[in-house]
Amino acid sequence: MSTDANSLFTATDIAGMTLRNRFAVAPMTRVSANEDGTATGTMTRYYERFARGGFGLVVTEGIYTDQAFAQGYLNQPGITDEDQTQAWRPVVEAVHGHGARFFAQLMHAGAISQGNRFRNVAAGPSAVQPKGHQMEFYRGKGAYPMPAAMTEEQIADAIEGFAASAARAVAAGFDGVEIHGANGYLIDQFLTDYANRRGDRWGGDTRRRTTLVRSVFEAVRARVGAEVPVGVRISQGKVNDFTHKWAGGDQDAEAIFGTLAEVEASYVHVTEHKAWEPAFEGGRGSLVALARRYAPHVPLIANGGVGDVARAREVMAAGADIVALGKVALANPDFPNRVRAEREVAAFDPAILGPIANIKPGELAA
Ligand SMILES: Cc1cc2nc3c(=O)[nH]c(=O)nc-3n(C[C@H](O)[C@H](O)[C@H](O)COP(=O)(O)O)c2cc1C
Repeated sequence: MSTDANSLFTATDIAGMTLRNRFAVAPMTRVSANEDGTATGTMTRYYERFARGGFGLVVTEGIYTDQAFAQGYLNQPGITDEDQTQAWRPVVEAVHGHGARFFAQLMHAGAISQGNRFRNVAAGPSAVQPKGHQMEFYRGKGAYPMPAAMTEEQIADAIEGFAASAARAVAAGFDGVEIHGANGYLIDQFLTDYANRRGDRWGGDTRRRTTLVRSVFEAVRARVGAEVPVGVRISQGKVNDFTHKWAGGDQDAEAIFGTLAEVEASYVHVTEHKAWEPAFEGGRGSLVALARRYAPHVPLIANGGVGDVARAREVMAAGADIVALGKVALANPDFPNRVRAEREVAAFDPAILGPIANIKPGELAA
């Protein structure tokens, strides 16, 4: 192993839970669950490969949290009832069998749901048509329909969905949960000026638009207790608006990361297209650096193009504790082991982005 990579193989911890190194698998939706939202054997083998391949932390794909408006995609896994919860158990056991930690990413799609087996209508903070187009490789087509503006009761139900799902994730054996506050889904919709036009306590200036993420975090923390790691993922860009930037720049970063510091999030996970680049035009600091500044004592995961040792070290120097890899991990489920052995890293092939190819028992590539 080159000395450059040494620091990435030191242990660290999140809320007192040790991770064997600084490599995490980023959450990636794979639309490969059964229609009823239960995890499959193929998913078990898919997640197991990352653990076997040396990652210290694996974060699941976004898992839907309730049977009202949370589901975003057909064949997305859920954790809303006993069957879905039990179906995660073998997945968790397989990952643990190779010494990795496993966090469940809890996701509510809100206004950009494009496949919900329970209902046909999407709901979000306000009746504002989402930008962009549905993703065809997740079985969507055309513009997003106009969402319904959530009622106070529906917001309360969504918060309860996160809390109940977090408790189920712990019951299934997950080591922690990640609240999906990024990429244009419900919590990010509430954070976003143009998507959240509410005049009540859930909307207003940036601080007020953090009310939902704060409420979800507090509800989850109250339900799972003080010991379980509960992190939050944050981005500027969205799956339906890649280039979005926070209009308030630095001040928005202060409001959002400051809120996560105040509630004592176990970690913050920031994602940008290129994690090392300045967060705002003409600005200097990356989102990683801003998270470090405004949530100075919170463990920090950085994601976005950091699947090489030099970039990983660069974002660690800017304040990250852990790097999360998406596409590079898909192409190299054994990325940490490859780096350690100084083996070549495989190039990413976009064909991998479809549902998980059938992986037969005993056929672990990594
Ligand atoms: C197939 C695919 C599915 C994704 N699904 C999710 C998801 O469920 N939750 C999430 O927070 N991010 C999701 N992302 C975003 C990744 O976590 C990550 O932010 C992105 O791929 C950039 O990191 P990279 O440059 O290492 O690939 C997905 C990305 C890909 C490629």
